Amino acid sequence: MDTSPHAAPAAPVGHGLQTVVRHTYERTRADTSGALADYIPELARVDPDRFGIAAVSVEGEVVAVGDADVAFTIQSISKAFAFCLALEVAGRDKVLSRVGVEPSGDAFNAIVFDAKTNRPFNPMVNAGAITVSGMLVEHLGAEALEFVLDRFSAAAGRRLAVDEAVFRSEAETAHRNRGIAHLLTSTGALTAGVDATLDLYFRQCSILVTASDLARMGATLANIGENPLTGTTAFAVDAVRATLAVMFTCGMYNFAGNWAFDVGVPAKSGVGGGILGVVNRQLGIATYSPRLDGRGNSVRGIAAFRELAEELGLHVFDPTNRGSAMLSALGR
Ligand code: DON
Repeated sequence: MDTSPHAAPAAPVGHGLQTVVRHTYERTRADTSGALADYIPELARVDPDRFGIAAVSVEGEVVAVGDADVAFTIQSISKAFAFCLALEVAGRDKVLSRVGVEPSGDAFNAIVFDAKTNRPFNPMVNAGAITVSGMLVEHLGAEALEFVLDRFSAAAGRRLAVDEAVFRSEAETAHRNRGIAHLLTSTGALTAGVDATLDLYFRQCSILVTASDLARMGATLANIGENPLTGTTAFAVDAVRATLAVMFTCGMYNFAGNWAFDVGVPAKSGVGGGILGVVNRQLGIATYSPRLDGRGNSVRGIAAFRELAEELGLHVFDPTNRGSAMLSALGR
């Protein structure tokens, strides 16, 4: 390693994605602050030191650094993909009649509803995500889990499976989510039954992924629903736009404003330690580091995304971002 005073302080432009990701990993790995999620007992058993970063471009470039191939449960990151599928299966009007698209400013498990409409604020908080899972059960019945697994797997490019131990651990301890599901049933947002809905919700949260899988799933969203490495279509085009919009405004819960300010890409975090970011039409990025901050977001994941956004000019309002290609093509 060049330690001379003339060594470049940041990753030099043109050294490729692998170099920038490796550099980011090295610069952020020393931070061991935060704590494992333990409200789902099984989650407290993971190795807290794991740290990996992966990125996949829509051209098919794949980058994986550190523990990018270590499996963990997808948790709330599943909410973004489940919302995308519900839009396709139940239709936009029905989905929006049951769940809003407004940031709540509250914690992911808050028991709050929009005072005017009685709907959950958005599909990224638990109340909204449980509503979404309920709509998938309502439309697909007993096939709902297989459908979710098929589409998630198509986006990841390999067959994914549920971690049964994490599923059971959450199902046995989820008194708060059960309370939310009963409230949603009382307001009419949930019609598929509390048990069947939570069974799907807990299982979709317990799907095992790696950062490399998540980066591929993110690249599939970036590539308007088609996995760029396999050519398989996993998601509907219109649903992808809606999903990325809600990820941008609500994906990081009560940190969403700070995230939009500093990082500026649609993202979703999970208490398993993953964060997924999507750079529209360009890149899926995922980090895995299971120590969380007080809001349930990965500490090193946030640091790595901040660094990557800066190094690569990812922010949607970065001066290098030229906006609508369609408008440019009009040739005014
Ligand atoms: O509902 C729950 O508690 C979990 N299965 C998912 C929560 C989660 O990942 C929140 N994200 N940071």
